[in-house]
Amino acid sequence: MTLLDVVTTALWVMLPAYVPGAVAVAVGGGAPVDGGRTWRGRRVLGDGKTWRGVVGGTLAGVCVGLVANAVARTFGLAVPIFPPAALVSLPVGSVVGDAAGSFLKRRLGRERGTSFPPVDQLGFLLGAFVSTLAVAPDWMSVTVTPPVALVALVLTPVFHLGANAVAYLLGLKDVPW
Ligand code: CTP
Ligand code: MG
Repeated sequence: MTLLDVVTTALWVMLPAYVPGAVAVAVGGGAPVDGGRTWRGRRVLGDGKTWRGVVGGTLAGVCVGLVANAVARTFGLAVPIFPPAALVSLPVGSVVGDAAGSFLKRRLGRERGTSFPPVDQLGFLLGAFVSTLAVAPDWMSVTVTPPVALVALVLTPVFHLGANAVAYLLGLKDVPW
């Protein structure tokens, strides 16, 4: 595998994990997942984790994976095909990992929307990796090799920061992180 192959594979397999967060920013709002509940005096997750974001983000992630598979097959691209388990676990793990990051931030007394690197940038990626390792371990070991995982870990914060800056400039987010 050349470096280009490694980078292409990393970007491709992370598509269904990247998309939920971006779509959640666009469609999020409304009822928070934690229902406004607090734990030890602080919100469980906070107003930044909403049902619309969870459902919309997850569905968008699955759709992107399905489209990616169709494109790869149609054009015979040299990229991995997502098995059904990964099609579900990459977006679901991404959303759960993102919420776990918010849970951690609230426990540490950080308010909703505050910047908390690298949890903000990598929580969703770790969630996607760990959950997919659990449900599709063979596919993960063949596809997300250590170099691919490393490239994904390095590129994700870069893309995440860039995407948030764009969302801020478009007025979708109140803060550029
Ligand atoms: N969002 C959502 N539901 C989610 C994730 C995100 O509705 N499950 C929307 C919210 O409008 C949120 C925005 O996307 O404010 C940005 O997401 P994120 O940066 O993850 O949330 P924060 O508001 O920064 O909150 P936290 O501090 O808990 O990360
Ligand atoms: Mg944030």
